[in-house]
Amino acid sequence: MEKKNIDWSNLGFGYINTDMRFVSNYKNGAWDEGALVADPMIQMSECAGVLQYAQTCFEGMKAYTTEDGRIVTFRPDLNAARMEDSCKRLEMPVYPQDKFVEAVSKVVKANQAYVPPYGSGATLYIRPYMFGSSPVIGVKPAEEYQFRIFTTPVGPYFKGGVKPLTIRVSDFDRAAPNGTGHIKAGLNYAMSLHPIVSAHHEGYDENMYLDPKTRTKVEETGGANFLFITKDNKVVTPKSSSILPSITRRSLMIVAKDYLGLEVEEREVYLDELKDFAECGLCGTAAVISPVGKVVDHGKEICFPSGMSDMGPVTKKLYDTLTGIQMGRIEAPKGWIHEIC
Ligand SMILES: Cc1ncc(COP(=O)(O)O)c(C=O)c1O
Repeated sequence: MEKKNIDWSNLGFGYINTDMRFVSNYKNGAWDEGALVADPMIQMSECAGVLQYAQTCFEGMKAYTTEDGRIVTFRPDLNAARMEDSCKRLEMPVYPQDKFVEAVSKVVKANQAYVPPYGSGATLYIRPYMFGSSPVIGVKPAEEYQFRIFTTPVGPYFKGGVKPLTIRVSDFDRAAPNGTGHIKAGLNYAMSLHPIVSAHHEGYDENMYLDPKTRTKVEETGGANFLFITKDNKVVTPKSSSILPSITRRSLMIVAKDYLGLEVEEREVYLDELKDFAECGLCGTAAVISPVGKVVDHGKEICFPSGMSDMGPVTKKLYDTLTGIQMGRIEAPKGWIHEIC
């Protein structure tokens, strides 16, 4: 199959319209069969639940070309399960998990020509999402919904690839203690737009959000979880009920323990202890692991010993092992790699 004429190595993290997307509609209490369609446009009521009360959630995952030329996705069952959690919290109908995984495969297969080749540094980003499509004017859930999946080829999430990032401690909160931080609701990302625009304006790559109740503990950034490496090579990640349970982070903790023989710890991480860590990274589907060189807390700089020019050694090992698993160079734990074609 012939690939599209795209400059794969210079792709940014943006939207490119691909040939097909999957669409399924929910009406009268049931999902229809769903189908691949060519039209990227959506027509709906001006009063749709999503437009009035932000009733929408989404997922983010990638398809990879492996070293031996297969196209695969990484743990799509976990995206299906997390979307179920999001739907339940937002009073939306669940799209069945097995059908979710099947639909992801169908869309990727239909857009094979856009899956970046092995070694290009790019991947095919997959965006499943759902929204309330029927009119809602009193505050309540919609009665009709649409589930869609589109794909778009992407390069690195952060400009500059794996150069260490500088992030700031944000004065804004991302999620309330008993709110929606643990699900992938569109509304969480709307809340983060002003903080990220102002962070960029002030020269920072991202925001570090703290726990909104005490503002003493590290939560996550707008689009990734944190990993810290202690000076004696332990991998530590913040535990909180208001952060998104990152599939990349959960996988990296297993990689650290089972592949690299490192000790791992999921626990509360205090802002005060950042100065004691040797390395810091942001992890997520889009970022994979992006090293953080510096955290700025209201003018006070916390510089990690790993520095501002390269990834720290443990972060690099984690990165190489996880990407090795995703690209088929390293044997994956059972069930992690879902082959599409
Ligand atoms: C807020 C937030 N945290 C963490 C992540 C990382 O999650 P995952 O590894 O499942 O992509 C994401 C997105 O992908 C996110 O939006």
